[in-house]
Amino acid sequence: MCGIVGYVGAQQATPVLLEGLTRLEHRGYDSAGLAVLASSGIKVAKRAGRVRDLAGGLPKRFAGKVGIGHTRWATHGPANDVNAHPHTDAKGDVAIVHNGIIDNAASLRQRLADEGVDLVSDTDSEVLAHLVGRSEADTLEGKVSEALAAVEGTYGLAVLHADFPDRIVVARNGSPLLIGVGEKEMYVASDLAAIVRHTTTVAHLDDGEIATVTANGFTTYRLDLTRTARDVTTLDIDPGSYEAGDHDSFMHKEMLEQPAAAERVLRGRLDERFGTAHLGGLNMDARETRAIRRVKILGCGSAYYVGQMGASLVEELARIPADAEAASEFRYRNPIIEPDTLYVAVSQSGETIDTLLAVQEIRRKGGRVIGLVNVVGSAIARECDGGIYLHAGPEVAVASTKALTNMFLGFALLALQLGRVRDLSIADGRRLIAGLDRLPELIEQVLAQEDALAELAGRLAAAESLFFVGRVRGFPVAREGAQKFKEISYRHAEAYQTSELKHGPLALISEQVPTIAVVPYDELTDRNVGALHEIAARRGPLVVVTHADVDLGGLDVTRIDVPRSERELDPILLTIPLQLLAYHAALELGHDIDKPRNLAKSVTVE
Ligand code: AGP
Repeated sequence: MCGIVGYVGAQQATPVLLEGLTRLEHRGYDSAGLAVLASSGIKVAKRAGRVRDLAGGLPKRFAGKVGIGHTRWATHGPANDVNAHPHTDAKGDVAIVHNGIIDNAASLRQRLADEGVDLVSDTDSEVLAHLVGRSEADTLEGKVSEALAAVEGTYGLAVLHADFPDRIVVARNGSPLLIGVGEKEMYVASDLAAIVRHTTTVAHLDDGEIATVTANGFTTYRLDLTRTARDVTTLDIDPGSYEAGDHDSFMHKEMLEQPAAAERVLRGRLDERFGTAHLGGLNMDARETRAIRRVKILGCGSAYYVGQMGASLVEELARIPADAEAASEFRYRNPIIEPDTLYVAVSQSGETIDTLLAVQEIRRKGGRVIGLVNVVGSAIARECDGGIYLHAGPEVAVASTKALTNMFLGFALLALQLGRVRDLSIADGRRLIAGLDRLPELIEQVLAQEDALAELAGRLAAAESLFFVGRVRGFPVAREGAQKFKEISYRHAEAYQTSELKHGPLALISEQVPTIAVVPYDELTDRNVGALHEIAARRGPLVVVTHADVDLGGLDVTRIDVPRSERELDPILLTIPLQLLAYHAALELGHDIDKPRNLAKSVTVE
């Protein structure tokens, strides 16, 4: 949440910063701002609204070769010009941009006010500018270190100071920050997307580190200013993967990338001969794998719903009790951590704070955690004991699609490996592998139905309220379908177990409330069809996501047939049409697909 970019070098900073902010906007988009070090001191421009509004309103002369920028997702105080970052100290010598939350901001604000400081914004972040400005340390690093010693909370921080015009000082604690290395120029960013056009050679700061960044290089320190060593790595990333290309939105591009992304997560990991998966990154031998008695999956939002699909895969293939829980709830109930439970953290960004904190809590209590993570080198990936990288490629749209598909496939691989050291037969293992091999082609077939789904979505967009229902394997599909629909269309979309309808929600069924029912061809088909009759009898319009061989008994429904795979893999094929429905409904309603209101791509604050 929120994005930071910084530049120091021979170029004018403003164009670099504006371009970086545009690429970071998916992380927060209610206000944006810049600060540059001009010959006359620090200049700041900031305002509520989008980066394009900021760029359009910049003063003519906004020159400087060192600068920082920020795009905000409001936590403390509404989205207005004053609360936008950068924040400055009273003299205007210091400018800071901050991601994260300062937990003791209220007491620091009080302390500063008692000392006669006039705080102008409602934010927690502003205290950082004043603390740096009031420090009497001789160096900027010393001032930042002293300021951070007073602070409790999380931060990705970048600081400019008029008295130290050759540098940006940055710091990290719980909110990502990386340094980009160029030719006699350097960058800082909260996300590689901001600087990928300029460099892919980067150093990731660790929590509790400060760095000085000048045009000629960088130096890292602990908070007490003892030196640390930080490796520089060149990431193998195609900058083009951060472009939407011919698509009207990143979400559209990312949905259509799913067959290729699915191939990548499976590549080199399937062993047809022994009917199993190879997941070297788990760092567990066969004996340790066999000793697992339970699997507990933790994630947030859609990652949690795919975690529920993953729990079913583990139970079905490995016959190990498994469940998924929202990471945001888990750590607040003082969870019992068991040595023979395998904990699995699932996250696209690898930054989601609730998932990260859950991982830390489990490890503190001696549990073993593996990560299913998309972003290589992210905080969750680094915190886990092992894991499976998802290889979905950069995902920019707030509404997650291809990363979720690859999470599902990551769970299928995990379940296969866990199953094959237990009772899953080699024949069943090979059956699954054949199904996984075919999956990219089947995903392609679902995506080919886009035109028909667009037409249907146009009709659904008119409804104020919708139900998404499914049972057992189909229920997480319904949850994810409702999530996607509400996230970008802003319609009220509620997911229920089909079996629970008549225990309450059936009261809401009417001609105005369509139900999207997930009805795969499985042992529950007849029961599901029975429930559809009950909805139809109450005049509820029905859309059924199903398989061609399901007989809907003459019901008047709109049918979406998806190709059948192996039954364990069906949930992901049933999910994909629901992505397209949400996307086209949002398009019909004229919404900003990639930047839905009130949301941001990575939730890095609690
Ligand atoms: C998905 O469409 C949502 N934007 C959201 O629920 C997301 O899945 C959740 O915030 C978890 O993010 P993560 O995968 O990066 O941890």
